[in-house]
Amino acid sequence: MSHGASGAATAPNPPMLAPTRHKANEKITARQLSRRRLPVVARRPGLTARIGLVNPRRDTRWWPRGTRNSVELVAERLSLRHNERRRRTPGNRRLLRKIPAMSTLRYLSGIQPSGTLHLGNYFGAIVQHLANQSAGDSYYFIANYHALTTIRDREVMAANVRDVAVTYLALGLDPARSALFRQSDVPEVTELAWLLMTVTPMGLLERAVSYKDKVARGLGASVGLFTYPALQAADILAYDSDRVPVGSDQVQHIEITRDIAGTFNHLYGEVFKLPEAQLNEAPIVPGVDGEKMSKSYGNGIPIFATGNPLKKVVMGIKTDSTPMEDPKDPDGCTVFQLFSLFVDADEREAMAARYRAGGLGYGAAKKALLEKIEERFGPAVEKRNELLADPDYVDDVLRDGAKRARAVARTVTDRARDACGMG
Ligand code: ADP
Ligand code: TRP
Repeated sequence: MSHGASGAATAPNPPMLAPTRHKANEKITARQLSRRRLPVVARRPGLTARIGLVNPRRDTRWWPRGTRNSVELVAERLSLRHNERRRRTPGNRRLLRKIPAMSTLRYLSGIQPSGTLHLGNYFGAIVQHLANQSAGDSYYFIANYHALTTIRDREVMAANVRDVAVTYLALGLDPARSALFRQSDVPEVTELAWLLMTVTPMGLLERAVSYKDKVARGLGASVGLFTYPALQAADILAYDSDRVPVGSDQVQHIEITRDIAGTFNHLYGEVFKLPEAQLNEAPIVPGVDGEKMSKSYGNGIPIFATGNPLKKVVMGIKTDSTPMEDPKDPDGCTVFQLFSLFVDADEREAMAARYRAGGLGYGAAKKALLEKIEERFGPAVEKRNELLADPDYVDDVLRDGAKRARAVARTVTDRARDACGMG
């Protein structure tokens, strides 16, 4: 989707911005900015009109990367973009060069409330979700419809949903910048899922590795479990998402989404945007048994474990029986792989050298890992406890997130309904 001036030809000639309430050239910090409501009357060239109050706590789509603390730059860019065809003066061009291009990428991802979140979820997905907050528009949801394929206890489900919300907030999700919500608070996704399922070949879902894997592990093959990727496609497509930040085990589901969207578009016209998976550098994070860390395999290191329980899990990481004094291969060691996630290249290399030199016992390596975990998550543990004591706040965040998400999902679902003749 382009927000460039090229669309201006088709747009009426609107004023881009009403005066903002702060002084010209006033520099304000991101924190101050987030507290202000800026009266902005703006119309995006070539796109639908947006008139009203833009509250930067709520709507970050207007703030280009890196300039969140300079309202003036944003304001000037908006008006310049609109007028740039007519007023390409050297001064304007210089100013435009100084201002980074507006990023309006939309990020969307979901995480199932199927158990306690662990280091695999953190390094595979959550880290990216938090980082994306300043890169664009972000929507993160708690995939409770998906979790219904495995969890059949309402109390457990409710507790898990709360746990995911609190985990995100404690780790730094800013509800002013990202919409955090429960999947089931946006019923449009189930409506859209049906439209998508009607164009989804059975064979496509039969090839889904995660379905085959779950069935092989003894999970009953319900229709819900089988159609899981079609619901996930609806989640992604309902928000016109550009990027889907996930761990690499989810790549196939994003490919399935693109396939389904492509078929729908082929049949009914350009209804859906084709999203892309966004992976970070962390490979699949291993669990304490060396297999992929997963809530369902019971091999996770919980993000918020502390004290003795944490010590017990870390000390229980499976290692081989090489004696302490012998050289060891760092790359084949789960403890080393986990340690690497917390440190920079130099520290990683230093630890690898200690492995190779011999004399480092696995117990000492585990202690080093334990320290890193405590150092990284210690501050968030306190924040988490505060949030657990304030359930009303957490509910408000989820409600507000759902409201914002639902508005987008309704528009896209209506577009799809209309395209296939549902009125
Ligand atoms: P789990 O397998 O523990 O049930 P989910 O399927 O809910 O986890 O995954 C939530 C997100 O975390 C997804 O984006 C997934 O790719 C990522 N993720 C889960 N486990 C790992 C792992 N071991 N390594 C990397 N990413 C992971
Ligand atoms: N299937 C994902 C997982 O198990 C969760 C999920 C559901 C999801 N809907 C999504 C992830 C949409 C990304 C986008 O991790």
